[in-house]
Amino acid sequence: MIRHQDILLANQFDREFLDHLYDITNKVRTIAKTNSGSLYLKKLLSDKRVMLYFSQPSTRTFMSFLNACQILGMSHSSIRDTTTSSEIKGESKLDSLRTLSSYVDLIIMRTPDAEFAEESASFLKKTRRPVPIINAGSGSKEHPTQALLDIYTLQRSFKNTGGISGKTILFCGDLSRGRTVKSLIKLLEKYDSVKIIQCAPDELQLARGFKSSNRLEEYLHEADAVYMTRIQDEYDKVKGETQRSYEGFKLTKDNIKLMKPNSIIMHPLPRRDEISSDIDDDPRAMYWRQCRNGMWTRVALIAYLFERDEDILKY
Ligand code: CP
Repeated sequence: MIRHQDILLANQFDREFLDHLYDITNKVRTIAKTNSGSLYLKKLLSDKRVMLYFSQPSTRTFMSFLNACQILGMSHSSIRDTTTSSEIKGESKLDSLRTLSSYVDLIIMRTPDAEFAEESASFLKKTRRPVPIINAGSGSKEHPTQALLDIYTLQRSFKNTGGISGKTILFCGDLSRGRTVKSLIKLLEKYDSVKIIQCAPDELQLARGFKSSNRLEEYLHEADAVYMTRIQDEYDKVKGETQRSYEGFKLTKDNIKLMKPNSIIMHPLPRRDEISSDIDDDPRAMYWRQCRNGMWTRVALIAYLFERDEDILKY
């Protein structure tokens, strides 16, 4: 990982970087517990400005990045609806982006287009304002910062059971169109002997040779973590094509009895009904912690990009 560079794909992160990022994350959490610590963090990037360019809906990623920037004292602005920008007058997305780069030091971007974050980064590189871009979700392709918070959550959950290496992670739901799943699998492959099982309808499975099932109960007992996802029907080629029975791919109070007592339940959220809300208070449910972990890992990532990580570690 090189500082100041764009964050576009999960494969950019190596183990050394991940370990460093989580050291920063843990330290930031400790520093932020006191008033003097919070004020210290708020000064770290008070000279920087960020633009959140989200042309696809988001609750967690947008708000956690926004709050991460606020924790570091950055000034921020946002576009969430391109029909209120001059794109509606026919301005190209790249002209729009070049304009935004005139005002800020960092662009955090979510788009429905799988390639636009990468296209934007190579485009800006050729301009006088090559500000870094963080991919906050690119179509059904990648969500690298979600993978960072997911690995952080797994690492904390398995702190007393030998870490992530050697664990079995079961992915369930819409896997072929799930960007969080694809990015997370790339990072899991950086740990030793992680076993991946996929449980999904045949047409929504990943094309790779993982152990597969279309019956969730079949492998629940083997999993150290069950990673649930919703049907991503916003990517249906024909509206409603995946609006069919999804009964076999839900976690309920009944079937979680099949899980190991120390296993965990994750979900990038938002959910529909693939995790029954009456298991939210089960100690194995980690999805609300993932939301909070997302904010802290994003603080650490932004501090790293702007070379303020050592200031955090030294505090
Ligand atoms: N996990 C995630 O990306 O959630 P949002 O779509 O709400 O940002």
